[in-house]
Amino acid sequence: MRHFLTLKDYTKEEILEIIEIGLEIKNNLKKGIYKKELEMQTLGMIFEKSSTRTRVSFETGMFQLGGHALFLSNRDIHLGRGEPVKDTARVISSMTDMVMIRTFEHSMIEEFASYSSVPVINGLTDSFHPVQLLADYMTLVEHNKADNIVAAYVGDGNNMTHSWMMLAAKLGFELRIATPKGYEVDATILVDAQTIAKESGGKIITTNDPQIAVKNATVVTTDTWTSMGQEDEKEKRIKIFQGFIVDDVLMSHASSDTVFLHCLPAYRGLEVSEEIFEKHSKIIFDEAQNRLHAQKGLMVWLDRQK
Ligand code: CP
Ligand code: NVA
Repeated sequence: MRHFLTLKDYTKEEILEIIEIGLEIKNNLKKGIYKKELEMQTLGMIFEKSSTRTRVSFETGMFQLGGHALFLSNRDIHLGRGEPVKDTARVISSMTDMVMIRTFEHSMIEEFASYSSVPVINGLTDSFHPVQLLADYMTLVEHNKADNIVAAYVGDGNNMTHSWMMLAAKLGFELRIATPKGYEVDATILVDAQTIAKESGGKIITTNDPQIAVKNATVVTTDTWTSMGQEDEKEKRIKIFQGFIVDDVLMSHASSDTVFLHCLPAYRGLEVSEEIFEKHSKIIFDEAQNRLHAQKGLMVWLDRQK
């Protein structure tokens, strides 16, 4: 049995296999072919933070695979009232076939997984958002942008950045990260990713200059400057992050066929301009929809490992 907590635990071949299964299910669906591979199975979905895409994609995906998903908000279950993680894990995993968790500290999901008798999927922690990267990579494949990737991430060194680092390290491509001083990525995760990248031929570069990052990049991406849980810092962050907006001026340093990805939700006028967002809206909303398809690939893959 496997968990899916970070891309660090996965080989390149496994990541590509998950994407391939997701694409196969997606293409079958277009032809009206449904395989109820997870019939009679249930997915417990624990949410300690808000979500639009993660909830809709996992719930819809599980239903389309013949199973059922349970939305478990920490406001409604005893976890939010202090029932220990290890007890919650043993109870929920005894009645479900898979569990997805969105939470704050990454150590919570690690503890849950260590007590869980079923696969646990990371639906976002403060440190990583690996299911988003499955969808992002699937989108690049479909848009013929998956060969010779040079990716640029501009903005806050956060869970999305860390997962981009792991994807680059595992698949072996170049990732340049531009953050303001003081908002850099986690130093330990950076060393980890750079060590893995040495073996794969990938390269992870950090800078405080967005123009250096986007120069000739094939993919530019960003994320909110204020992640969930950091709301009190919003005003301060808006001041510090000036100069890190992905707009026409910054994108002019990339190429004319550079694509722009955003995991959403997007805040126009902050991390991305209205013009750049709308110019790339087709690929951005393909990326959002691919959460559904990539995660179906993941759930089927995890089920096959049991
Ligand atoms: N990108 C993403 O995970 O979106 P939600 O927060 O809406 O789930
Ligand atoms: N970095 C963002 C991602 C949202 C999908 C957050 O953690 O809020």
